[in-house]
Amino acid sequence: MNQAQLHRLVAQQSKEKDGSAFFDLRLATNLTLIQQLFFSLYPENQHGAYFNKLLDLLPKLFASRPSDLKEQDLLRLNTGNWYQSEKMLGMQMYVEHFNKDLNGLRQKIPYLKELGVNFLHLMPITSRPKGENDGGYAVNSYLQVDKRYGTKEDLLALTSEFRKEGIYLMLDFVVNHTSDEFPWAKKAIKGDKKYQGYYYTFDDRTVPDAFEKTLPEVFPETSPGNFTYIPEMEKWVMTVFNSYQWDLNYTNPEVFLEMLINLAKLADMGVDVVRFDALAFLWKKIGSISQNLPEAHALVSLFRMCLQVVAPGVILLAEAIVAPTDIVKYFGEGQTLGNECEVAYNASLMALLWNSIATKKTNLLYKSLAHVPGKPKDCTWINYIRCHDDIGLGYENQLIWELGWSPELHRKFLLDYYCQKLEWSPAMGLLFMYNPKTGDGRITGSAASLLGLEKGIMLMDKELINQSIAKIIMLHGIVFAFGGIPLIYAGDEIGTLNDYSFRNDNAKKGDSRWVNRPLQDWDAVSRLGEETSPQAQIFHTLQKLIQIRKKSPLFADNNDMELYHTGNDHILAFGRSNGDRQGLLVLCNFDEKPQVIETGWIKKMGYFTKGDPLDLVSDQQISVKSGLLEILPYQMIWLKRG
Ligand code: GLC
Repeated sequence: MNQAQLHRLVAQQSKEKDGSAFFDLRLATNLTLIQQLFFSLYPENQHGAYFNKLLDLLPKLFASRPSDLKEQDLLRLNTGNWYQSEKMLGMQMYVEHFNKDLNGLRQKIPYLKELGVNFLHLMPITSRPKGENDGGYAVNSYLQVDKRYGTKEDLLALTSEFRKEGIYLMLDFVVNHTSDEFPWAKKAIKGDKKYQGYYYTFDDRTVPDAFEKTLPEVFPETSPGNFTYIPEMEKWVMTVFNSYQWDLNYTNPEVFLEMLINLAKLADMGVDVVRFDALAFLWKKIGSISQNLPEAHALVSLFRMCLQVVAPGVILLAEAIVAPTDIVKYFGEGQTLGNECEVAYNASLMALLWNSIATKKTNLLYKSLAHVPGKPKDCTWINYIRCHDDIGLGYENQLIWELGWSPELHRKFLLDYYCQKLEWSPAMGLLFMYNPKTGDGRITGSAASLLGLEKGIMLMDKELINQSIAKIIMLHGIVFAFGGIPLIYAGDEIGTLNDYSFRNDNAKKGDSRWVNRPLQDWDAVSRLGEETSPQAQIFHTLQKLIQIRKKSPLFADNNDMELYHTGNDHILAFGRSNGDRQGLLVLCNFDEKPQVIETGWIKKMGYFTKGDPLDLVSDQQISVKSGLLEILPYQMIWLKRG
């Protein structure tokens, strides 16, 4: 039982009507864990006074939480794990690319509802440097809304409207770094020792050189190395991401306390899910790659345990794009099991789906998913196919070897396939952070362009267009049914193509991820009534699949996803069941040719008790001949039992 469940129990047992009494109970429930985590990072003999400061701070943070949010917190305690519900369906967007600003977004709530979206991830909306700012991930403030999006009042009006409409909001907490224009950084540059201690600053290269021996580079092309020299300060500062993003020094307990205040205030603006950006990087140690360190986990759990006391209705998402076995650790382990982040990006599934599209085979997907350790039952995934970032090729080398492929050549093939090096490939992606020395690189591009729609339209090739539409629908259908919160990347619901305009913008042209950060095409949306266009086909099919998902608790995440081996390497088959007779079976063909599977095992599972079952996607009964089922190229079938 994790702490959240304990809070639920305690709240149910208590007869108290006074919300503040629940605060005391929650603090008592989490205090031992908070103390252990705090002193594991900040030893009591040196930092005891800071623990007292923390205890002083928590009631203050609770006192300033708006009363309507406090009521909502208590309601959520009683409703259980709302984030695992089949009703959850998300969209990620850049506000300025969607419909100008926060008020513009508010006007488009009907569009979101029409599609079935009830959860939004808005990319950073706080103030940032004028020039390069990593799409707002270089923060000048954690709380001040950048003018281009509107005002804090606009944000509060939006979140209050979202609450009325039943829409959940996720915002980023860029917890690992600030911009070099953040007030703390500015003071550090001016020579203020206190704020120099908020970052990792060094007089000479001794420590940086020691770190560099093992630290990898995140942006080798545009920001090589992990330290930047600041002449005004006459010091080196750690900048693991871009040179203008300064890493916060969490070995300093004051940084933790200040950031906890920022976190609580962010939650107080009506945020339901806080996206912990780049959290794998939170702790640094010489001699290591400084990712996924045990201290980083302790720190996240400490944030979680404190926020749970102050705002128990708010949950955390781990943005950890790391190896599959490392991702699940952000749900917590051992004593902190289920007490770290409730949600994590299923980056492994995402990357494996793109591998399957290129190879037309599902063998690596099966092998890899079989190796992913299970997640705790109170935690869930965000399942997605594209986001604002690149697609990394972080597959396990050992598993690639076991398939008889060379990992190096396999990665080269994927880069060639997606980044226009192979004449026959339908994909039109771009390379991201390609390192000619090592051959390492990542892929960027919109889902539709990576799946062939751009090339199909360019060549006016009807078959290619139809195939790409089928692929777009199939990949989305998989993430709708997999178990977790599906997250559509805004624009993908209408098959938006690459946007090459970033090449004309000096602040963007060095970062090819911008090719997949397009303006929402409202003209295309206004023509969705023309049923035959690719946009309309994609939109209406996704809308229908979303409706099916929302109607059946089978799609809720009960940790029940099961993979089935069909013996055919081109097919992905997985099932969901909620413990009783009901079940859902998803069958997908990743090949460009029709494929056939045996159906005996499906019959044994009870899918044929009322004759040939109905495919919910096509609304047609599947037809089995001599015990064999034919699945068309890129077809996805959803069968329901019970
Ligand atoms: C996360 C964001 C990415 C950003 C990085 C640094 O990985 O998704 O866009 O560049 O953090 O903040």
